[in-house]
Formats: sequence, structure tokens, C-alpha cells
Amino acid sequence: MGPGLTESIAKWENDLRYNFDEIIDRRGTNSLKFDFARERGLPEGLLPMWVADMDFRAPQPVLDRLVEVARHGIFGYTEAKDDYYQAVADWLRRRHGYETKPQWLKKAPGVVYALAMAIRALTKPGEGVLIQSPVYYPFTGCTLENERTLVVNQLILKDGHYEIDFEDFERKLVEKQPRLFLLCSPHNPVGRVWTREELLTMGQLCLKHNCLVFSDEIHFDFVFPGYQHLVFGSLDPALADIALIATAPSKTFNLAGLQNANLFIKNPDLKNALSQEIRRSGFSQLGTLGLAAGQSAYEAGEEWLEQLLVYLKGNLDLTREYFRAKLAPLTLIEPEGTYLLWFDCRGLGLSPREINQLIINKAGLWLDDGAMFGPGGEGFQRINIACPRKTLEEALDRLERAIR
Ligand SMILES: Cc1ncc(COP(=O)(O)O)c(C=O)c1O
Repeated sequence: MGPGLTESIAKWENDLRYNFDEIIDRRGTNSLKFDFARERGLPEGLLPMWVADMDFRAPQPVLDRLVEVARHGIFGYTEAKDDYYQAVADWLRRRHGYETKPQWLKKAPGVVYALAMAIRALTKPGEGVLIQSPVYYPFTGCTLENERTLVVNQLILKDGHYEIDFEDFERKLVEKQPRLFLLCSPHNPVGRVWTREELLTMGQLCLKHNCLVFSDEIHFDFVFPGYQHLVFGSLDPALADIALIATAPSKTFNLAGLQNANLFIKNPDLKNALSQEIRRSGFSQLGTLGLAAGQSAYEAGEEWLEQLLVYLKGNLDLTREYFRAKLAPLTLIEPEGTYLLWFDCRGLGLSPREINQLIINKAGLWLDDGAMFGPGGEGFQRINIACPRKTLEEALDRLERAIR
């Protein structure tokens, strides 16, 4: 690695107040990422770079708020008041230019849970649900578990950049008549931040062919310089009418274990249908700690996020340079957003199974096998770079040693 790159990363990071370099031992905390290798049939001792949470402590104001709530000591049923909505709405307006109304908000204990409820509320058994593979695997799981038919519009990889096959997208809408499209925006795992034109084209095709849109925007705060996330519901009032916008503080502030998601649904019929399905499932309130953490993160976590984004950009620069200088024939797909990087291992000339064995047994890494993300994912791997730089360097070194 040239000294120039290390120096320039260090220079940008001079002003950081939060110490993202600190390595915090997460083992023995019942962490899904660190503590469940054996249960998942993997050897112990792998360096975990898989599931989408971060190895960083949440922002200090959130920790302070949680301690305050814990000190009070009573964790009875809790609901949110207007200031909760205000905190979320201000964030959406300030960071994403998206104007909401209090009556659009539907809280849920997770985006995946809300997505499953939306599938049940808005489609019938056997009906089609459209996805764009390779994509976050619960999109497929929730569709099939609920006995809906999976309709796949596979993304196309063209010169290292993923694009939408719009002809196929429309053909699938016409031929398979899916009633719900699960949009992943920004897209996990291929890292695309969809452009206005792409979003509008997808939206207008859905409108024309009578297909609702569940827009999973959980990664919306992770966008690299030069790109801008656009909230699907902010593009056009007609599209907002067919859409459910799913957001959450969990990815942004590393609060996944506190289970808090916020959906915005402008169309009252869609909102009622989803609310009814959620009631049917027996769910009513979020947890006390999730509500408190989510609200304080949106109110006081912005400085932390700004600093985190600088740090993640440094991690991306380092990773890109590693791939260029040391990891051929592996190739990195340049991400526009998310902290999950997608890379192509097909140049190794190994089968997907052999690639996995190499990653696990030779590199000693725990990544996400591309095949899990559906058609188009075979021969790829996903690596989570939201970790201290030393951990990332260790992972990249392991990868290099394994392919040599
Ligand atoms: C696209 C996407 N949606 C949803 C989730 C999970 O959301 P939740 O924990 O709120 O169910 C993830 C986590 O990795 C994700 O990548």
C-alpha cells in the first residue's frame, strides 16, 4: 500500500472525535455475528465480516439516554408521543429532503417483519412478488414462506456496474402480474444507489401494471461521496400513493438488537391494510429501549454519523486499493452506498463451493456467500467493512494469503 493513501486517509480523519479505530471485543455477548459459528456449522475462530451490523459503539448521546432509562428501572409498556415522530420526520427532511405527515408513520419491530406483513396484507397466496436478484435474502425467504410466487428481475453486471434490465422488468410485470415489488434502495448486496431516472422508470412501470412497491431504504444513510439517495416516496405523488417506505435507525446507528423500524405510508388504504395485518400478528408496541434509542439517535446522532461516514470512506479506499494491488483475480464491485461490499471471485476458476471452502478454511473468514442472494450471486462474496481499520486489514491480508 502506498504511503500516500495511508497519509491522506489519516489527514481526513484528523478531526474525528469518535474513535472508530477502537477494537471492542464482541465475543461472549451473544452476538449473532461473533458467537454463533458452531451453531451455524462453521469452525470456531473465523474473523466475522458477515451480517450487517457494525463493530462500533452507538453514538454517545444514545448510550447516555439508554443508561438514563435503565437507571429509572421500570420497563413497562411504552408508546411514542409527538416528539418521537418529530425526531424521525426531521431526520428524513434534513438528510433526505423527504416531507412526511404524522399519520403516515407505522412503527414496526423490524424492516423484515414489516416486509413480511406487507406481503401478507397486500398479496394473496400464490400471487407474485417481484425482486431484483441478487438481493438481501429475506426478500426471497419472506415471499416463499408466505406461499407467494417469486418473480425475479435479475440485475445485469455491465463493465463492473450493476444495471436494471427494464425490458425484463416490464415483461415480468406483464407476464407474471406480481402485486408487490420489493425494492432494495440502496441495494444490498450490489451497492447501487438508484438514480432518479431508474427509480422513476421502475415506479412508473409498477404504476402502469398495478403493482405496489415496498421500498426498503434501511441503508439510506450510507451513501458514498458523489451519490445521493432519493426516497422513493419523494419522487412523484402518484408513486407515493402506491408505496410503503421502510426506514430504520438500526443500520444507521448500529441499533439492530433494539428492533425499531419506521414505515411511512401515504395511502391510507395501504396503511390500514398493513396495520390490520400487524394487529392480526399480535404485535402492538415497540420496546422501551428501542423507542428511546431511535429517538435520541435521530435527535443527537448526526455528528457521529458524519464522522462514521468519513471513516467508512477510508475503509472503502483501503479495500479498493487492496483489491487493485494485491487481490487479483478477485474484483471489487465499486459501491455507491451501504457498508457491504460485493466482490467477484469467478476469476479464481473455482466452483462456488470451492470458493466458500477457500474463504472459510484457508482465509479463516466468515463472509456472506453470494449464492444466498439468489440468481446472479453465485461466485461472489459479500464483506462487511463497518469495522475498525485494523480488523479490515487483517481480513484483507487473510484473503490475500488464501489466494496466493
Ligand atoms: C436491505 C435490508 N433490509 C432489512 C434489513 C434488516 O432489517 P431489520 O433488522 O429491521 O429487520 C437488512 C439487514 O441487513 C437489510 O440489509
